[in-house]
Amino acid sequence: AATTVYEAEHATRSQGVVESNHDGYTGTGFVNYDNVIGSAVEFTTYTSHARQHDLVFRYANGTTTDRPMEITVDGTPTTVSFGSTGAWTTWATKTLTVQLSQGTHTIRATATTAGGGPNLDSLTIANDVEAPRPRD
Ligand code: GCU
Repeated sequence: AATTVYEAEHATRSQGVVESNHDGYTGTGFVNYDNVIGSAVEFTTYTSHARQHDLVFRYANGTTTDRPMEITVDGTPTTVSFGSTGAWTTWATKTLTVQLSQGTHTIRATATTAGGGPNLDSLTIANDVEAPRPRD
């Protein structure tokens, strides 16, 4: 498929719970991070082509305070801000573009402030591509 959606409720959680009390999520729910530094969601992803990929995180933050997270791709960290979306039912996306080799990758989103992470709905890897067709 050209795009793969990894639902947060199916990912591995550390200090967070799956909930479904705020509408607008995809799948069956979202992860409500515990309000602590270090709460985390980890996705195991697969990419079929070595190239740059958009990692699109869908989230809601109903507070007025940023909930920055450290996004690690196979352990390499980047800090990404997850600012207010205005309401817990208002979902937005945040994109991080990274080079991924072909194969399996571990992508972990860890809260870096005492508020914990935002509510996390999914990670979509947006610009994966179909395998090229063989020539006739
Ligand atoms: C509220 C909200 C939760 C959210 C939490 C938070 O309790 O209902 O969905 O996760 O605030 O501040 O993290």
